[in-house]
Amino acid sequence: MASLTVRKLDDEIKAALKLRAAKSGRSVEDEVRVILREAAETPALAAGARPASPSEMSRPASHHRAPNGRPRVTLIIGGGIAAYKSLDLIRRLKDRGCHVRCVMTRAAQHFVTPLSASALADEHCYTDLFDSRSEFDAGHIRLARDSDLIVIAPATADLMAKMAHGHADDLATAILLATNRPVLLAPAMNPMMWNHAATKRNVAQLARDGIALIGPNAGEMAEAGEAGTGRMAEPLEIATRAATMLRPPRPQILSGTRMLVTAGPTHEPIDPVRYIANRSSGKQGFAIAAAAANAGADVTLISGPVDLDNPINVRTIRVESARDMLNEVQKALPVDVAIFAAAVADWRVANAGAQKIKKTQADMPPLQLVENPDILATISKLPRNRPTLVVGFAAETENLIANARSKLARKGSDWIVANDVSPGSGVMGGDRNTVHLITRDDPPDHAPDVWPVMTKDDVAATLVARIAQAIKKQSASS
Ligand SMILES: Cc1cc2nc3c(=O)[nH]c(=O)nc-3n(C[C@H](O)[C@H](O)[C@H](O)COP(=O)(O)O)c2cc1C
Repeated sequence: MASLTVRKLDDEIKAALKLRAAKSGRSVEDEVRVILREAAETPALAAGARPASPSEMSRPASHHRAPNGRPRVTLIIGGGIAAYKSLDLIRRLKDRGCHVRCVMTRAAQHFVTPLSASALADEHCYTDLFDSRSEFDAGHIRLARDSDLIVIAPATADLMAKMAHGHADDLATAILLATNRPVLLAPAMNPMMWNHAATKRNVAQLARDGIALIGPNAGEMAEAGEAGTGRMAEPLEIATRAATMLRPPRPQILSGTRMLVTAGPTHEPIDPVRYIANRSSGKQGFAIAAAAANAGADVTLISGPVDLDNPINVRTIRVESARDMLNEVQKALPVDVAIFAAAVADWRVANAGAQKIKKTQADMPPLQLVENPDILATISKLPRNRPTLVVGFAAETENLIANARSKLARKGSDWIVANDVSPGSGVMGGDRNTVHLITRDDPPDHAPDVWPVMTKDDVAATLVARIAQAIKKQSASS
């Protein structure tokens, strides 16, 4: 066997080798060994084809580094019916800027092919622990470590049992035992399997081991006529959670702060099937609750009927009417900060029907309205347990600033976030908001603090930052 001295190689090749070795975290000598082994196992090269040029050699091996510094997600696909959804998950993760590398169990390959996963991920799909191509440098350890997050979808009952007991008899379980990276598990199985005492024990053990869990959801199963909890969370939900887990931790500027947020419309019954409502989507209040929780606050969100998922790490309580909302708000006290972003109905029907009002009745039924409790004013004027900072929202269609100032004075809140909801603004139900912040301490001639048009997420983050500043200022002066 011929020997090779790196020192004697051309300078250009040495430079390319050093760069490639640095990128893959190996010594130059080990990198040469890897290149030779790859060459020997590549049929065209073994048969005498042209060797790689220095610039080709300097390219990182695709299975070592994510191009452009994108976060790397290793997606382990288990052997369940929901495996077909994992192909969509690859796309969703890529949409969020992730570099995805797939690993399939032997059972998974009965449901989807490694070829499909490779084609969608643009990278070889790994299947075999004893694959000499990837194991010449302990590939399972590299796969375990060289990623920012490991997602298992679908996580079968069998995979969870093996994880909970520390098995490592195939590539997926060996990676999971060898990893020091965060792991997100998306279980999918028949409801009987999910509810089995053994699965429950394994899930509890995995939670104790610090494994994050998403789903399973309730619904119809693939097996005809079966329904219950066991459906894999939707790819979009899993990708969103993965993106959250990949985000660098935010500074916990609201750590130790108890916060209450209201959101959405209220529904005021006319009879058991009809109600008075408004166009509020709840998006702004949900975004504030999520941003506050991200900043470390202990958040309770009380929401009217909306079509939004509970924000992560937020205690979410769903209500129907203004009176229900006030009741839950009072139960949530004491808090340090209360943000009233809900569009609470001003009136309710005094004579709401106990039965459906019939169209056949001679006259149109007269709807008598009475005023609802004013949640913002009630809490702002509490003699005891008043939150230190009470923030109201004023949705106005005209005279925005004047109306918002008079609302601040009338209700007794500390701040008012005024937003223009005039027709054509697109705020109600939309994703953007134009906000003016008016505070009690502003002198009367003070120009309102106008924020540029922002997404509701950005409004939420800005408001959370302002609240953190105010709390800091207050604790410095007290
Ligand atoms: C048609 C079919 C569908 C299956 N679906 C599931 C499932 O949804 N969830 C599950 O936990 N197991 C399911 N199984 C059983 C697993 O495939 C089996 O436990 C296998 O050993 C799992 O291997 P793995 O965990 O290594 O992927 C299914 C089996 C078959 C034949």
